[in-house]
Amino acid sequence: MNKIKRQLKDILRPAKYTVNSAIGYLYDYIRLIRHAGWVSVETPSKRDYKSSKIYHRLEKSLSFPNRRKNSGKDAVDDLNYFLEKHKTSKEYPTFHERIANNVLQQFLTQNAPEYSEPNKEATLDIATELKPSELGGVYNIDSLSMINGTLEDPEGFFNTRYSVRDFSSRKVSVETVLRAIKMALKTPSVCNRQAWHAYIIDDANTIKEALSHQNGNKGFGQKIPFLLILSSDLHAFDMPEERYQHWIDGGMFSMSVVLALHSLGLSSCCLNWSKSPLSDIAFRKKFKIKKSHTILMMLAVGYAAENLKVCQSQRKSLESYYTTLKK
Ligand SMILES: Cc1cc2nc3c(=O)[nH]c(=O)nc-3n(C[C@H](O)[C@H](O)[C@H](O)COP(=O)(O)O)c2cc1C
Repeated sequence: MNKIKRQLKDILRPAKYTVNSAIGYLYDYIRLIRHAGWVSVETPSKRDYKSSKIYHRLEKSLSFPNRRKNSGKDAVDDLNYFLEKHKTSKEYPTFHERIANNVLQQFLTQNAPEYSEPNKEATLDIATELKPSELGGVYNIDSLSMINGTLEDPEGFFNTRYSVRDFSSRKVSVETVLRAIKMALKTPSVCNRQAWHAYIIDDANTIKEALSHQNGNKGFGQKIPFLLILSSDLHAFDMPEERYQHWIDGGMFSMSVVLALHSLGLSSCCLNWSKSPLSDIAFRKKFKIKKSHTILMMLAVGYAAENLKVCQSQRKSLESYYTTLKK
């Protein structure tokens, strides 16, 4: 490209990118107002997220060492209203609605019998059928038990993770990846909404097709043995203030998946999904991604080749990454 052409491009780029950003925001906005939790609130998956959002306030209240007198009162009212409103809805109770009933019952019987007595019985039937994994509420734990999670060589764990672009031919088992995803489910999320979803692709042709829509795998895509598409569900977010939350929670989940894979000896490389609306739509036409799921990134997964080169991807000095704030 000659110099004048480059200079002309440099001049026009800001205007072009300004317009394209506006189109991108519009696309995100349309997706948000179509799929957010405040639209068609009866939908089972939206109710599931919403009930978790509300009952988690009670779990928090139950976990405080010194609860204020009225702590949890508003959440009890909100939860009673919510459960009452939806108890004849389709697929009621969902997973989190069942837990919501139980947490409410625990809260009312153990902590605040004076709140909302009339609805207490309505919660009992469901709560008695719950499995231990559906109980909800709080655990009593010993802080020493958390020390079991301490790594012997934390720096070693983090510093041996690289974005790998040279994979061996060793087969990646779905079970191992699922184990990593299961560990990643422990990622914190806003009000415990866990709005993430991973799409798994483990056959070569489908990987090839998916990667043809992604622009950061040139030169190594053909060696990627296993691919994840990580996404986040807009159904979980029911307030305009939460408009970026699905990116944040989904990003945190994605990082957990990367680290969980690393802990199991699997390498990975995040593959950006920085896409124009048209490219995102084109991909959705080919692959069955749920409409409310926002694609966050692809993740190449595999065992690293025996001898390989990795990018240094140098970091600046620690001091340049933090600032101590004082009044
Ligand atoms: C969201 C995200 C998207 C990325 N997209 C790509 C990509 O498309 N292609 C690629 O080769 N690397 C991609 N990377 C990897 C980065 O280049 C890499 O993480 C960075 O250089 C730091 O290197 P390290 O992961 O080895 O520490 C991506 C990383 C992230 C977090």
